[in-house]
Amino acid sequence: MSLDSINTPRWSRRFTFILAATGAAVGLGNIWKFPYIMGENGGAAFVLVYLLCILIVGLPVMIAEMTIGKSARKSPVGSVLSMVSEANASRYWSIIAWMGCITGLIILSYYSVIAGWVLHYIGDAFSGSFQGITPASAGESFDALLAAPSTLLIWHSVFMGMTIAVVAAGVTQGVGRAVEFLMPLLFALLLIVLAYSAWVGDFATAFSYMFKPDFSNLSGQAVLTALGHAFFSLALGMGALMAYGAYMPENSSVARSAVLVALLDTLVALVAGLAIYPIVFATPDLAPDSGPGLLFQSLPVAFGSMSGGVIMGGIFFVLVAVAAWSSSIALIEPSVAFWTERKKISRIPATLILGVACWFVGIGSVLSFNLWKNYKLFDKFTFFDFVDFLTANILLPFGGLLTAIFVGYIVVTKTRDEQLLNMPPLLKTILIWSLKVVAPLLIALVMSVGLIKTFT
Ligand code: TRP
Repeated sequence: MSLDSINTPRWSRRFTFILAATGAAVGLGNIWKFPYIMGENGGAAFVLVYLLCILIVGLPVMIAEMTIGKSARKSPVGSVLSMVSEANASRYWSIIAWMGCITGLIILSYYSVIAGWVLHYIGDAFSGSFQGITPASAGESFDALLAAPSTLLIWHSVFMGMTIAVVAAGVTQGVGRAVEFLMPLLFALLLIVLAYSAWVGDFATAFSYMFKPDFSNLSGQAVLTALGHAFFSLALGMGALMAYGAYMPENSSVARSAVLVALLDTLVALVAGLAIYPIVFATPDLAPDSGPGLLFQSLPVAFGSMSGGVIMGGIFFVLVAVAAWSSSIALIEPSVAFWTERKKISRIPATLILGVACWFVGIGSVLSFNLWKNYKLFDKFTFFDFVDFLTANILLPFGGLLTAIFVGYIVVTKTRDEQLLNMPPLLKTILIWSLKVVAPLLIALVMSVGLIKTFT
């Protein structure tokens, strides 16, 4: 261990690391994105492919990322570089971490816009405007929000300000403790919404929609979307978990933490789906393929008809905002860690500069829902669609591919194995082979087929 790594801050307790990593993983991806992309890609077959992607590709890559961070204990770029010099490999491998920093910033730019929608809905919920709302008017008020660039811009700015504030203060300080009780609360509330919507909605149809696969409507593009979303939802492929792994207490197990984080993340996504779809199927005006508005058009209807719905709806959107907040922090942390480590700039100005840059790029996403709605890149993507596709379906899987190869072949075996000490030998062999062969091949295959299908 080098001198400067001793000074790296640590999460206070083992459990705090798991919560912080879960905080990064659980976010809009689980509650907002997963339900609507599942609906756009045909339901259960997509869910199954998604679960397989998590197990076969996501989990090994997550262990790889945490291993890099925990053994080198620097920013992602610094960590990759120390493994490179230990192994006498090419410094070009640091592209993994570089690309990851940029990917995180691009994701944050639009993530903040969507989180802004959530902030707006907090006010709507608490002011009682969901009371007795019809599906049609829920749709109308969502459309009205998207049509108002100034409102979107204000909420986008508020959310970016919240992110900047925490990251400027230092991630090990505030985040750990906040996440510690807010995450369990979010989960409890999701369960309540699930119970309610199962009660009033069409739970049977929702359940078979999500779990009875029909592979005839699964496209190559859907498989790429599932893989990309596995990376997005697990917060993989961009160094976030390397950055968090660097703050991991010495005695915590990488493999066990990874399994737990992946499990919790998947559970939240499935419960969110099961909470939303019974309402979707019980509402004639609402279709599974309604796109990014699905969450915002279905749940207000549920809260609006539920007794105590004003309070519950308000708390629900607060918690979704918190989940988004703990993710947005992890999206910018790798860049801040890197910049402050290398260039001798301090944390506050570095966070401010990067945050404002993200905010600026995010304006493109704000406008893509209204003034720029009709400008399409490659004849199919709005600005928002494009940054989403580029990051989730190209940059994250590619980052994951490089990470798997890096830990599979380049990192010195002894260093790698130190982090996998207490893993059962059979599982360890499986892990190494999936990093060396299975994950890279699958990612390469899915990406090539998916990209060809998307652009032809
Ligand atoms: N996992 C987050 C979510 O599901 C979003 C996300 C994607 C992310 N990549 C990340 C968060 C990297 C932190 C770090 O909402």
